[in-house]
Amino acid sequence: MKTFPFIYNQPKDFVKSLQPGEWAEFLLSEINPKLSLTTIKAKVVKITEETADTKTFVLNPNWLWKGFSAGQHLPVTVEIAGRNVTRFYSLSSSPNEKLISITVKRQKGGLVSNFLNEKVKVGDILQLGKPSGEFTVGESAPKSLLFLAGGSGITPIHSILKKLESSQYKGKATLLYFVRTSADIILKSSLEKIQEKNQFLKIQYILSDEKKEGYDSGFLTDEIVHKYVPNLEGVSVYVCGPGPMQQKALTLFPNNPIKSELFLLPTQIQNPVKKEGTVEVTLSLSHKTIQLKGEKSLLDELEEQGIFPQSGCRMGICHTCVCKKTSGLVTDLSNGEKSELGEENIQLCVSRAENALELEL
Ligand code: FES
Repeated sequence: MKTFPFIYNQPKDFVKSLQPGEWAEFLLSEINPKLSLTTIKAKVVKITEETADTKTFVLNPNWLWKGFSAGQHLPVTVEIAGRNVTRFYSLSSSPNEKLISITVKRQKGGLVSNFLNEKVKVGDILQLGKPSGEFTVGESAPKSLLFLAGGSGITPIHSILKKLESSQYKGKATLLYFVRTSADIILKSSLEKIQEKNQFLKIQYILSDEKKEGYDSGFLTDEIVHKYVPNLEGVSVYVCGPGPMQQKALTLFPNNPIKSELFLLPTQIQNPVKKEGTVEVTLSLSHKTIQLKGEKSLLDELEEQGIFPQSGCRMGICHTCVCKKTSGLVTDLSNGEKSELGEENIQLCVSRAENALELEL
């Protein structure tokens, strides 16, 4: 009788090697790439070009998608050159819509933003994670709202405005939208539709690099805010935009409730230190010992060596890159604090090696 020796001699190992969960996932994805028992996957059903460097991707998620609150963000994973890469994007659609959207601006050197803009097409499948974030207005929105958006920071604000529209918001909202030129305004026609159809919204675009009739020019200042919102009493402020704009906004409203969606790299991540010599790092699970410079985050330096741990936001928010350090000293780049020498979990994207380390990788 013909048998398969491995099955015959080691049936338990054979069953284990089948990894039923993975097989089920594989079979389901062969039937329909969107099907999964464990992973939120979404089919790209429409792509709209918003500006020369920004596209909106309308997505039809699978049954694991449980909805979101307007203003939240979510992890999006794509496969680039054989490895999964994750980045966080705000949802730009309203939670009331069946389909969801993300609006992605290309970032200089941005691996995922460029991939999405250049390569992804209708019919492709994206892997999503659960939405999260506190940049929301809640069920009973404040009576008076001021939104400050900069560049692609408009995306969560657009979602909130759509939500306010669908809930027939009775208060007043002002949107000051800061962009370089009028050609950089993202989601313009949708924003203007909301303004036209509803009493609650007043939009003002402010251009930094262009003078144009009907548009204001300049940057976020006290004067420009008071020009459009002379009375700030009781106004709730929502800010989303580049780091410097958000930091400025945080100084302008000492007496107002303010929420900001700050995707800002800690300065210590942006500015590597210079060091002499190298740091020995042992990767216990892969039985490797490597030399790192200890100048940048562990995540950056591992990737430079061709080692790609799981990662997402790369700024200490999502915890995707958490890894057990069994020994050694790291600096937490988000606050400059040194770790203990012993065993603890660290985030690779915001930890810099200071001396010999052992990581469970
Ligand atoms: S990649 Fe998100 S916390 Fe490190």
